[in-house]
Formats: sequence, C-alpha cells, structure tokens
Amino acid sequence: MGKVAMFGNKAIVIASLCALALLSACGSKVVSFSKDVHPILEHNCAVCHSPGGVGFKVSGFDVQSYASIMRGTKFGPMVTPGSSDQSNLLWVLRHGAHPSINMPKFCEQLAQANNKCAVASSVARRLPRAQVKLIAAWVDQGARDN
Ligand code: HEC
Repeated sequence: MGKVAMFGNKAIVIASLCALALLSACGSKVVSFSKDVHPILEHNCAVCHSPGGVGFKVSGFDVQSYASIMRGTKFGPMVTPGSSDQSNLLWVLRHGAHPSINMPKFCEQLAQANNKCAVASSVARRLPRAQVKLIAAWVDQGARDN
C-alpha cells in the first residue's frame, strides 16, 4: 500500500514539475502587432520611414501600417512570417547586416550621405534588446495583424 501511494505522489510531483517547465518554455506571450510592435516602429522609424521621410524615399519602406510593413522595401519583403532569422527587418535591427543599413539610422550617417536629417535626437541608435526580442517573437509567431 505504502509503495503504491509513494509512487502516486512522485508521479504527481513529476507531473506538476513538467507542467511548470512547459509553462516557462511554451508560455511565451502572444505578441500583438498593434499593441507591441507597431508603437515601437512608429516611435523609432516613422520619422524617416513614411512618405516624405528620407528612409522611405531611398528604400520605399513605410512603417505606417501592417500592410506597408509587410510590403517591405522596393526590393522586396523585409519580414518572413515564422522566421525572424530570415527576416531582413531583424538583421537591420540586430545590426547584423552591412553597417550602412544598421537601423535606426541616425543623423550623422545621413549627413555623410548628404541627406537632410530632421530626426529628433530621441530616436535611439539601437533599439533596446527587449524591443528587438519582442519584434522577433512577433515574426516567429507568424507576423500576424493582431
Ligand atoms: C534617420 C532616418 C532613419 C531612421 C530613423 C530609420 N531609418 Fe531605416 N533607412 C533609412 C535610410 C536612409 C535607408 C536607405 C538605406 C541606405 O541608406 O542605403 C533605410 C533603409 C531601411 C531598410 C531597408 C534596408 C535594406 O535592405 O536596404 C529597412 C528594413 C529599414 N530602414 C528599417 C528601419 C527600421 C525598422 C527603423 C526603426 C527601428 C528605421 N529603419 C529607422 C533611414 C532611417
């Protein structure tokens, strides 16, 4: 009797530990485009990446809406739904592509290129890690319009 009961308890303990492990591994929260991702891009990128901005003029990338973000640049999409590692958007945010396209760009870079820069100095030179992770998670979760 005792043996069976002990086994039973262990099984329960093990089962609940697994449930906890699952929660931490798989319980990453669903990232929202409209609440999480879009505000970051609007704050840090829209000044250049919307019609009239220098980033839009040069690349065609416009962060004003889900549709325009998914359309990408004039050379093609920047977001590959389901894979942040294959998404150019994440390469430029992680500063993993050519230094000339590290994003956000800042005024000194543009001055060298002889472009006018009207960007407020509040724009970070590099998004905080947590924000980059959030955008990556959104892409990995399918880059939905949620
Ligand atoms: C100060 C202006 C400025 C800001 C702010 C800025 N960009 Fe850019 N961005 C540019 C310019 C200019 C280009 C054109 C690339 C070049 O200079 O060769 C560009 C190009 C790009 C490209 C295309 C890269 C390619 O493959 O050619 C992406 C994607 C991009 N920006 C994303 C962003 C994102 C995301 C942000 C915000 C986190 C951002 N940019 C902020 C100016 C800016």
